[in-house]
Amino acid sequence: MPRLVIVSNRVSLPSDRKPKSGGLAVALQEALKGEALWFGWSGQVSDEVQNKALIETRKNLVFATLDLKPEEHRRHYQGFANSCMFPLLLYRPDLMIFRRDDLQGYLSVCGRFVEALAPLLKDDDLVWVHDNHLLAVGRTLRAAKSARRYGFFLHIPFPPYPVFTVLPCAKSIVGDLLAYDVIGFQTELDRENFLGTASFLFDIERLSDTEIRHKAQRIQVLVQPVGIDAKGFARAAERAVNGDMARRLKDSLAGRKLIIAAERLDYSKGLALRFSAFARFLDRNPQFRQKVSFLQVAARSREDVAEYQRLKREMDGIVGDINGRHAEYDWVPIRYITRSVARGVLAGLFRSAAVGLVTPLRDGLNLVCKEYVAAQDAADPGVLILSRFAGAADTMTDALIVNPHDPDGVAEAINKAMTMPLEERAERWGRLFEVVRTQSAALWCRTFVDAIAGKT
Ligand code: F6P
Repeated sequence: MPRLVIVSNRVSLPSDRKPKSGGLAVALQEALKGEALWFGWSGQVSDEVQNKALIETRKNLVFATLDLKPEEHRRHYQGFANSCMFPLLLYRPDLMIFRRDDLQGYLSVCGRFVEALAPLLKDDDLVWVHDNHLLAVGRTLRAAKSARRYGFFLHIPFPPYPVFTVLPCAKSIVGDLLAYDVIGFQTELDRENFLGTASFLFDIERLSDTEIRHKAQRIQVLVQPVGIDAKGFARAAERAVNGDMARRLKDSLAGRKLIIAAERLDYSKGLALRFSAFARFLDRNPQFRQKVSFLQVAARSREDVAEYQRLKREMDGIVGDINGRHAEYDWVPIRYITRSVARGVLAGLFRSAAVGLVTPLRDGLNLVCKEYVAAQDAADPGVLILSRFAGAADTMTDALIVNPHDPDGVAEAINKAMTMPLEERAERWGRLFEVVRTQSAALWCRTFVDAIAGKT
């Protein structure tokens, strides 16, 4: 079996006390069972010029990372990746800030990273690049060594072509994507949007539902949503629900029902509308006043990007306002935490919650909704409320599907979830758990690794 080389901006280093790679490390678990090299940014910013990657080895795995220089961090990470590409891909061209200097910064980071990666590669390695940060790496590596096979997976959405082509360098980004042998998306909509954009910008021949030809190259364009290990997460939740944090939470609830939401503090997550929906739920259903607590974990993220600073100030204000209006001397409706909470602890909190509220305005897939379902007690499961704009809504149809732009509709769904009889909760949960179990992280890894290896 050839070695797998994973390229992503964040790398989950074994020496990291707090992994920085989000859901990627979890999703990649299956792929990391074999021999693999994981290459990317160290998460550090330093003035020292590094031409060689820093190597850490753990058994079958090699981790190779590079620091970013301050200018690269500003132009590439804060600028092109998070102020231009991220809002654009999340259907927010209004928030997109395009600067030619940032584009240049992105290209030069991709170039420097390729120079450091190329000497580490073996001839038959399979290279799998993730997300938009280092997207150009595939084309540059291929130019150097064309025999190897290259795959790419986009964890976040791909918008329709009138949105994507707002980007002044849209054609070169799509050209970079077309340099891969396999391009993967979370949903059919993302694939169709990409193909629509690629056909608009290039001469593309569609050979089948999953294959296109561009120039002489055949490219597989696949849809397979990322997943979790449902049974493993369920076991973690069973353990954690008896742990210190979950016990403290339970004691503090004093018999009240818990609604939970957890994500990065990001404008795509729809927090303001969610808070407003919860406030309406309280206004319309006074019988639930003091009978329910809403725990929002919103881990601060990208704090050096202006839009995220603005968002943090706005959310602090909204939560303060709602709590100020509704709180009693012995009850605060919204508990708001802007630190990250360890996944193992979250598992227990999810299991303690009667309602999981997952209402992003747009999301590639959303693993939190899968984790909420996996964490539930089969004998008394909670109810998932899920935005129709999360990629997961395509398959998790037994959730209460809502439009997050309609706070009244979300408030109604909260009421429905809070009053849903056990029989209906159990039926919905059983079907949802089956989706989470079968659409697993392992299946996602196998699908792409086999495709990149040319087996499918
Ligand atoms: O949403 C895209 C994404 O790259 C996720 O895969 C990841 O969890 C998150 O952003 C991390 O963001 P950052 O690297 O900016 O902290």
